[in-house]
Amino acid sequence: MRLSVSVALSAACVAACMGDMGMMIPDVIEVPPSPGRFDTAAAVDLDPAPTVVEVALEARVASVELAPGHVTSMWTYDGALPGPRIEANVGDTVRVRFTNSLPEATTIHWHGVRVPAAMDGVAATQAPIAPGATFTYEFVVPDAGTFWFHPHVRSDVQVERGLYGTLVVRGPDEPATTTDRVVVLDDLLIADDWSIADTDTMQAMVGRQGNLILANGRAHPIALVTPGGLHRYRFVNAANARYFRLALPGHRLTVIGTDGGLVPAPREVDEVLLVPGQRADVLVVATGAAGEALEWQSLPYDRGHGTGDKPTATVFQQRNDDAAPVATPAVPATLATIAALPAATVQRELRLAESGGHHAPTFSINGETFPAITPLTARLGDLEDWSIVNTTGMDHPFHLHGFRFQLIAPAADVAWRDTINIPAGQTVVFRTRLEDHPGRWMFHCHILEHAERGMMGELEVAAP
Ligand code: C2O
Ligand code: CU
Ligand code: CU
Repeated sequence: MRLSVSVALSAACVAACMGDMGMMIPDVIEVPPSPGRFDTAAAVDLDPAPTVVEVALEARVASVELAPGHVTSMWTYDGALPGPRIEANVGDTVRVRFTNSLPEATTIHWHGVRVPAAMDGVAATQAPIAPGATFTYEFVVPDAGTFWFHPHVRSDVQVERGLYGTLVVRGPDEPATTTDRVVVLDDLLIADDWSIADTDTMQAMVGRQGNLILANGRAHPIALVTPGGLHRYRFVNAANARYFRLALPGHRLTVIGTDGGLVPAPREVDEVLLVPGQRADVLVVATGAAGEALEWQSLPYDRGHGTGDKPTATVFQQRNDDAAPVATPAVPATLATIAALPAATVQRELRLAESGGHHAPTFSINGETFPAITPLTARLGDLEDWSIVNTTGMDHPFHLHGFRFQLIAPAADVAWRDTINIPAGQTVVFRTRLEDHPGRWMFHCHILEHAERGMMGELEVAAP
């Protein structure tokens, strides 16, 4: 297997290729498909009560076999990549007894879950959990959907090293499908020996894009499906910076869910763009005969600075198993009832900017670079429109904690989201109701290099 690791170019390139940062985006290492585990490990529920899910979770260093014969030392939840999949029903109490066995402090943030501020795992509400220390996260899960968890301390480093897991919350009206599985997408930047490579300042500016694509923690794994079946994939983009433009050649994809659960009606598309932090629930019918295989692909996407120059990359293989074909379940015509949010009473504008150049990139929102920021203030219960103005030459995936939102412009969309792409030079408007949870909430770019270099802010929501 040939490794083409263009990270080695970086030192020479710093002087030479100003303006041609595409050179800094490494080529992807393609490996043959490998049988073995595809699905993530289910967390064990330690509490017998039917409406309480109690999980013990430990962050620790572990060796992970990313491809046959290639083992990398990673930071993991419970030794697994991805970490365990916690499953709950809407309204359940989730209790996570967490132990930090890493060499540095960490927290857990429950991305997309509307938790009380004290459980959100961010600096404003929780001191980082020291090595050897424990913390119990406990909250009710109010919404069905595909959620994930990750640290909110040095997230560019800690998430890249492998700290992420999923939280699947099911509602009473899930569509009947042949399979229902989580697929966590990631990319790692590895050196020739498959150890995790360092980040240089140019990568910090563009966002650290890896050279090894992982689906559920493995390079080019195989998802077995029964022919004829209707298969549900709950995709999560856990990469630091890579945009996954997913497609399955020859197949239409049926999107049934966004970040915050089911959409009102299924949407037929040819591809799904998943930016860092986002989720999409997708249905696919497995056509073809037993043993036939197709590759899920990530198509080229230009998020600025030469990122569009890269060819299509393989994500994982979908292979028909040897079972007799099953009758294809019908996709329900209606999935969920979501009311469009009424008009907002508060308008805000947030301007995303970058400065400092290639050597010391820094990022800001409304001229302020985190942590030197003044929190925005808001009133609990208010409806607000946020215009996110991207003044930079690259896309930024914008994420709001604590509250879900609906898109207003450039195109209105009645679906719940918590993370949205703001294309280079463009403006996106979303509407949110600041309901249920007062406190200090973060918002930031989910390219983690950008977040950790200042593109973060806080919203203080006060009870009236
Ligand atoms: Cu997924 Cu503030 O993060
Ligand atoms: Cu979040
Ligand atoms: Cu960004």
